[in-house]
Amino acid sequence: MNDHNAATLAAVRSSSDPERNAVTEVDVAPTGPDPHAVFQAVDLSVYYGSFCAVRGANLAIAQHEITAFIGPSGCGKTTMLRCFNRMNDFIETVRVEGSVLYHGVDLYDPAVNSTEVRRRIGMVFQKPNPFPKSIYDNVAYGPRLGGVKKKAELDEIVERALKGAALWDEVKSRLKASGLGLSGGQQQRLCIARAIAVDPEVILMDEPCSALDPIATARIEDLMQEIKTKYTIVIVTHNMQQAARVSDKTAFFTTEVNTESDRRTGCLVEFGPTSTIFSKPNDERTEQYVTGRFG
Ligand SMILES: Nc1ncnc2c1ncn2[C@@H]1O[C@H](COP(=O)(O)OP(=O)(O)OP(=O)(O)O)[C@@H](O)[C@H]1O
Ligand SMILES: [Mg+2]
Repeated sequence: MNDHNAATLAAVRSSSDPERNAVTEVDVAPTGPDPHAVFQAVDLSVYYGSFCAVRGANLAIAQHEITAFIGPSGCGKTTMLRCFNRMNDFIETVRVEGSVLYHGVDLYDPAVNSTEVRRRIGMVFQKPNPFPKSIYDNVAYGPRLGGVKKKAELDEIVERALKGAALWDEVKSRLKASGLGLSGGQQQRLCIARAIAVDPEVILMDEPCSALDPIATARIEDLMQEIKTKYTIVIVTHNMQQAARVSDKTAFFTTEVNTESDRRTGCLVEFGPTSTIFSKPNDERTEQYVTGRFG
């Protein structure tokens, strides 16, 4: 086990509340070729019932980088993203084959605590979804669930998270107002603040700017650059310029038609540095997509 994994798992085990914090109760060793990756998908296939939505994906997500998932609609970007924090657990028909390693720990090991997984690996959705609560209570929600009760402590967490999401200055005088009363771009930053408030390691973003205007989009993109020193970010986007602007690595997915079922299964075509994917990709399908000739 390398130092990083050892530190991660030691931190999990030395927690004062092992029930809540234990990601896993079993001893694990990192496997696979890239022990430094935050995530590693190894031969990952995802089924909805008998339908294979994504087949045989292999990729590694590096720490403090922004990784973009691009590809035509239905190629499995959201499905892949949901595997990284076990959001798929909420869909009854889902079956995952292969593995998703998080610092070498198989996220789908039965001993893994999925609630703790979702605390460490936060998610921001396409449509901003603040709770029908005050701005303050939206951000304090996760920490309260995690057992933080003291007002002074919550105040500090809320302020830090709102500052981290570049929203503090706009809302500090109306923290008791409803989160639903904010603009779309502000609501999305509120959702980012809510994700940050529980001190995650990773933030998964599924088309976080698709409902926003260019100014709000630029703010979120700037914010991603600022926070990537602290977090590892995976973003799904249909906006090719956005992927090129913000990400360090890009994964291009496409669909292949299954002639027997006439359904389309997603596959990872190419994964690498964003500059390579956009300027000299190895696969013709990637080139066609990034130059707008396909999809
Ligand atoms: N809950 C579900 N039950 C059954 N099939 C699903 C479910 N969610 C997604 N699928 C199917 O899995 C495939 C991949 O869907 P997914 O949402 O991951 O694609 P996507 O790349 O995110 O597409 P988009 O760009 O339109 O958001 C599609 O064929 C979709 O119809
Ligand atoms: Mg999607």
